Amino acid sequence: MSRRKLIIGNWKMNNGPMEAHQFLHDLEDELKNEKIAKDVDFAIAAPFVALPFMIGHSHEEGKEAFYLPLAAQNFHYEEKGAFTGEISLDMLDQLGLEYLIIGHSERRQLFNETDEIVNKKLLAALKTQMTPVLAFGETESEFDANKTETVIKNQLTSSLKSVKENEMEKIVLAYEPIWAIGTGKTASPEQAQKAVAFARTVVAELFNSDIADKVIIQYGGSVKPENVKELMGQKDIDGALVGGASLDAKSFAKLITFDKQK
Ligand code: 13P
Repeated sequence: MSRRKLIIGNWKMNNGPMEAHQFLHDLEDELKNEKIAKDVDFAIAAPFVALPFMIGHSHEEGKEAFYLPLAAQNFHYEEKGAFTGEISLDMLDQLGLEYLIIGHSERRQLFNETDEIVNKKLLAALKTQMTPVLAFGETESEFDANKTETVIKNQLTSSLKSVKENEMEKIVLAYEPIWAIGTGKTASPEQAQKAVAFARTVVAELFNSDIADKVIIQYGGSVKPENVKELMGQKDIDGALVGGASLDAKSFAKLITFDKQK
């Protein structure tokens, strides 16, 4: 089964409209002589305030607009109403976004998002045309205690509750071991492969093996140009969710053209 690769840069709370503008300009330059492989998809999950400035952006007159698919880092599962400071799915749909990150460990740990909230968000996202990217992964102490597989199974089972088979085909999964996020401590390609392959078996149990074969599962946690190729070479790893190394256009360009590396 050959699955496409999907590299998403998650900018977190970095790069406002001005930096995003510069990033697009620089990325266009970086990719001038570099073709992105046909089976590699990519996107940037920018802060809400930067997103409107990144749509259909073209720098040089007469030149085809450089198309950068976009993602949201967060949203509220309610349709509308008195939720001061929140952003709805319809608002994001109006911007033409392609992906929605759901269940990132920073949202779980710093903003108290439970599996139940993650599940509500996922079910709401599935009613839109946007592709949900569901993040999951264990903490350092769970990793040390050999609980990685139990955590993956529990998180996926509760986050994917009430999801139908035809809906699962729309979902992307992102395995992000918390101990590897922003720490420079990447999981070894073997560790990442093992956890991602296990997640695939959980999808097979919850749905079926055909869906499990097709689902795109990314790895995230200190992915950078120096390690991306080896990680992407693992049998079950279908892409990356990248924080720090996606902020700079040169580095992001290297990530999405990883297949060209010698
Ligand atoms: P880093 O790539 O900075 O470790 O962040 C990973 C991440 O959390 C992406 O969502």
